[in-house]
Amino acid sequence: MEALPITEPVTEKVDALFLGNSYYAFNIDPEVRRFVASLDKDKVGKIVNFGSAAMLNSTYKKVKAEADKVGIAMDDKEFHCKGEFKLLHKGRPDENDLKDAAAFARQFM
Ligand SMILES: Cc1cc2nc3c(=O)[nH]c(=O)nc-3n(C[C@H](O)[C@H](O)[C@H](O)COP(=O)(O)O)c2cc1C
Repeated sequence: MEALPITEPVTEKVDALFLGNSYYAFNIDPEVRRFVASLDKDKVGKIVNFGSAAMLNSTYKKVKAEADKVGIAMDDKEFHCKGEFKLLHKGRPDENDLKDAAAFARQFM
């Protein structure tokens, strides 16, 4: 499966849309919010959230708030790991995180 940037609109029908995103200044990126707002509920079965952050644990609630507005479900499962920020968590996500992320994604195959 090919990973695409959120500058690419979702034009095909998908059962699960894996959406990677992170925290910046205690919020998700406005571009992520606009991307979710642009989604068509008849094309996207559900959103699967994944990402990294340095201090906060999960962007799930923030992404869900946007997904709710367009009537798209969020899978209960998500992948989260630590991400590097200044002196915190140097080198994260690391090889191990990538392995865990791949194992997470395989559950959906
Ligand atoms: C400008 C900036 C602001 C950030 N603010 C937060 C924050 O409020 N909470 C947090 O947990 N992590 C914060 N982080 C850390 C990022 O979430 C973390 O580095 C993440 O791994 C970045 O993922 P990316 O490399 O895919 O953008 C911030 C990082 C940057 C660069």
